[in-house]
Amino acid sequence: MNPVNTEPYKLPGDATWLGNAALKHITGCSSGIGRAIASLIASKPNQRIIATARNPADLSYLPEDNANILKLALDVTSVNSVNAAFAAAAKHFGESFHLDVVVNNAGYSLSGDTEGATEEEMHQEMETSFFGTVRVTTRSIEVMRQAKDRHGGLIFQISSLAGLCAFPGHAFYHAINFCIVEPSGVKTSFEGHSKAIIKPHPAYAGADMPARKLEGYVRQGLKLGMGMEPSAIAETLFKIASREERIPLRLPLGAVSWKMSKSKFQTLLEEFDAVKDVSAMGEPL
Ligand SMILES: NC(=O)c1ccc[n+]([C@@H]2O[C@H](COP(=O)([O-])OP(=O)(O)OC[C@H]3O[C@@H](n4cnc5c(N)ncnc54)[C@H](OP(=O)(O)O)[C@@H]3O)[C@@H](O)[C@H]2O)c1
Repeated sequence: MNPVNTEPYKLPGDATWLGNAALKHITGCSSGIGRAIASLIASKPNQRIIATARNPADLSYLPEDNANILKLALDVTSVNSVNAAFAAAAKHFGESFHLDVVVNNAGYSLSGDTEGATEEEMHQEMETSFFGTVRVTTRSIEVMRQAKDRHGGLIFQISSLAGLCAFPGHAFYHAINFCIVEPSGVKTSFEGHSKAIIKPHPAYAGADMPARKLEGYVRQGLKLGMGMEPSAIAETLFKIASREERIPLRLPLGAVSWKMSKSKFQTLLEEFDAVKDVSAMGEPL
């Protein structure tokens, strides 16, 4: 419907080769993967980096007195903290503030017995790993979209194998990516009572914008009375529960869902083959 990501991404050539270096923004740089990425980028003479951590003292491994390295406090669970970090970056880099690459790395795994998790623990996991990523991503898109001499950028969402494969005791960590029963359109109040509409953003008002197009398809589908009957879903779930066969861990429901899911996995396999060498990182595959 809306083919995306069809063109190869090109890190702006001027950023790397003409000295007008790419600006990198990495969340969660105080340790682990974020620290490794921040250290690497900081070692590249023409790259600029905004390195963030909840406690900026944790960024002391990065050199001081280098205008290309900006260290900022950032707690992704706080909208004020995210806004303050973006404002500080804009102030530091002035007219030349732009973002080319964002690495959303801040996150943690809430692990243990699902039944034992408190309300606070489960909400905090979603606030950090899901909403934190959303907050930083939407602010970054805004900066990328408004850049005068650049088009787009690259956002790495550091997810996990746990987004595809489930492991015991990680329900909330998986929840960010997992669904079990996955129906396509069902004739319920989902498109009415159960739909919260985001106030339209003026930058995406055009009828050719993907989200506007999808709204059009949905309106048309509703007018034509498309969608499955909820009773059919109920019957199928009962059938699954009662047929004395293995319960499938992923259950697309409806022809649209089955075909789109299958196509998604076929595309994924092609994409895995295409990155096989780089994914192996020198290990035998
Ligand atoms: N290590 C693995 O095996 C693995 C595998 C797959 C995916 N991942 C993912 O990789 C990412 C990085 O993890 P890591 O392995 O490098 O572990 P890590 O060394 O513990 O790093 C996690 C980072 O997230 C930051 N963070 C946590 N909550 C935050 C918040 N509210 N605001 C800002 N920063 C916050 C931490 O900062 P503080 O120091 O302030 O806590 C820390 O810098 C995570 O999203 C994780 O889910 C890790």
